[in-house]
Amino acid sequence: KVGILGAISLVVGTMIGSGIFLSPAGILAKAESVGASLCVWAGCGVLATLSSLSYTELGLMIQKSGGEYQYLKAAYGEVAGFLVVWTSVIVSKPSSFAIIAVGFAEYVTTPFYPGCTPPTSIQKCAAAICILLITAINCIHVKLANFVQIFFTAAKLLIIVAIIVGGFVMMAQPGGTDNFSNAFEGSATSFSAIAVAFYGGLWSYDGWNQLNYITEEIEKPNKNFPLAIMIGIPLVTVFYILVNIAYFAVMTPSELLQSNAVAITFGDRVFGPASFLVPVAVACSTFGAANGSAFTAGRITYAAGRGGHMLEIFSYISVTRLTPSPALIFNVRCEYNRFIQAVIVYIYVLRIFAIILQSFISLIMIIPDSASFSTLIDYFTFASWIFYGASFLAVIILRIRKPEWKRPYRVWIVIPAICFIASLYLIVAPIIEEPQLAYLYATIFILAGLLFYFPFIYFKKVPPFMEPLTIFLQEVMEVVPPPEE
Ligand code: ARG
Repeated sequence: KVGILGAISLVVGTMIGSGIFLSPAGILAKAESVGASLCVWAGCGVLATLSSLSYTELGLMIQKSGGEYQYLKAAYGEVAGFLVVWTSVIVSKPSSFAIIAVGFAEYVTTPFYPGCTPPTSIQKCAAAICILLITAINCIHVKLANFVQIFFTAAKLLIIVAIIVGGFVMMAQPGGTDNFSNAFEGSATSFSAIAVAFYGGLWSYDGWNQLNYITEEIEKPNKNFPLAIMIGIPLVTVFYILVNIAYFAVMTPSELLQSNAVAITFGDRVFGPASFLVPVAVACSTFGAANGSAFTAGRITYAAGRGGHMLEIFSYISVTRLTPSPALIFNVRCEYNRFIQAVIVYIYVLRIFAIILQSFISLIMIIPDSASFSTLIDYFTFASWIFYGASFLAVIILRIRKPEWKRPYRVWIVIPAICFIASLYLIVAPIIEEPQLAYLYATIFILAGLLFYFPFIYFKKVPPFMEPLTIFLQEVMEVVPPPEE
């Protein structure tokens, strides 16, 4: 069970990752002034808070793990639920993994090329190593993965606090506040430029909906869920704004624009001989984010397996003792009763499958020349906000269609309406402002899910080789279909 502290640290720990160390330049480039870019950071925080209030109503009304998968299934039916799972496995998870790996690469390579940009090929190799390493850690041992997580969360909080303190010390020096005079001069005025600026910011705030994936595991959810949201998200917002103020205390806007790894530039000027710790801490933060966020045990995948939206074999469970290979790999103790063992094996099989598949897609995503931190974010944010938007609308639809459902927390109905409009805007404005193939690809990938849904899930048509293959796998792994949900 997750208590209040656990819930807050889950939210804060997922949200703080790579974005705050990599997006400031991109946001400033779009917002075009110090004041406007601070407003974008604050605006994203407000949007994340309002969004998660809407999600609190959904999470407490439908108290099942799995987030959007459950909500869209309830509001729009099976197909929508399937598309959430599909998109999460094919687009969202792999792209978020790729983004964080690219961010990691940026920070570990920059110190070796003082004064210039590291070659792309080197960066891509570093990103690929990051992906392979995390995959290996997660396949080898779950305990190791958990340990890595705790250690890296501590590292990132330390570096955030160090930057804030360092920034305020610099501001106290003569001339420390120069960059804040006429802060709004030259701000971007076009609405769509602001939407694109929001993309980078929203990436940094992504993770505000973490609790909705584990609702079943929260202690006293009716009290702790809203409380954790109302503490965690404003806390991150304050951190982010202070860190940005600290950056501007040390760098002029044009210096910041030129530096992709802002925290390194900051460290060089503020921490003196200790500055080598900055890339190390940021690398830890991004590595921890990739490890934790790309693989939170595939809870959507698990929920989907129970709901019949996954390949059949992956929902099969072990009949006898543990099957050899998962047992060896995971070292699950044999005192558990059989059913629990079976469930554990089932979760692990799904998990390993999901991890390898996702890493593979992430590796492909970092290959193209155009694959940079910010272009990959476009894929992610576009695809994610389609489903976030659909969930905000679901709050309103379910109020009308299911007024009798118990709602321990009722959000003021204007809030999901605002969030829905904001998400429509976020999806449409960038397409009009800067049409990019990324948006087209993302849409095609999402809709391609239907090619799988109708034959395999709706009509239950399986290709002829599937049956012998399934039987073979059943024999090898000693598994049977799970009991009815
Ligand atoms: N906000 C995080 C960062 O700045 C990324 C979160 C990825 N999303 C997720 N659901 N885990 O790196």
